[in-house]
Amino acid sequence: MLTKVQIGKNKRNILDLFSNVNRLGVSNLVDFICDGNFFTSPASTRFHSNYPGGLAEHSYDVYKQFSKRVSDYNLNVPFESVILTGICHDLCKIGVYFENSLKDGNRSESKPYKFQDSFPYGHGEKSVFILSQYIHPTPQEALIIRWHMGNDDPAWKDYQEDVSKSFPEVVFFQNVDREASLMRKVG
Ligand SMILES: [Fe+2]
Ligand SMILES: [Fe+2]
Repeated sequence: MLTKVQIGKNKRNILDLFSNVNRLGVSNLVDFICDGNFFTSPASTRFHSNYPGGLAEHSYDVYKQFSKRVSDYNLNVPFESVILTGICHDLCKIGVYFENSLKDGNRSESKPYKFQDSFPYGHGEKSVFILSQYIHPTPQEALIIRWHMGNDDPAWKDYQEDVSKSFPEVVFFQNVDREASLMRKVG
């Protein structure tokens, strides 16, 4: 669980990060993120960060860890791409989690949220699509976000070899996303 103060701090940290992104349309992207429930949404129904503010917390975790990985391994990823991929890789999760009430009216403790997607476009695909509504992602950014689920995406095995060879940073990002999810695992 996060306090309102922690949720506010994550929001300020993320908005500060966007001030480093000089990309046409970024202010519209920030408006979209602020207008939706990005800062108050959970990150999953029951797997990790399933509490208000979990999505923003997870996204900021991924940004921080990917930033460290890029620096430790001298990966060729521009700073603004680290920000955009870290913060925006799960934009597909905005507006898809709803409180899960039991028949007796009480909230389910084991699964506090249910998932309902009005635009079922695919996980990474949907995040790239949403981002592309506001800015032009670079091919590297699009690939990192599209493939961030790694082996959890059945299509990955068909693209793994080509993507890993030309864009090894995609694999680093997959690992970071998994680690960040485990870090906030519930139960
Ligand atoms: Fe994801
Ligand atoms: Fe994620």
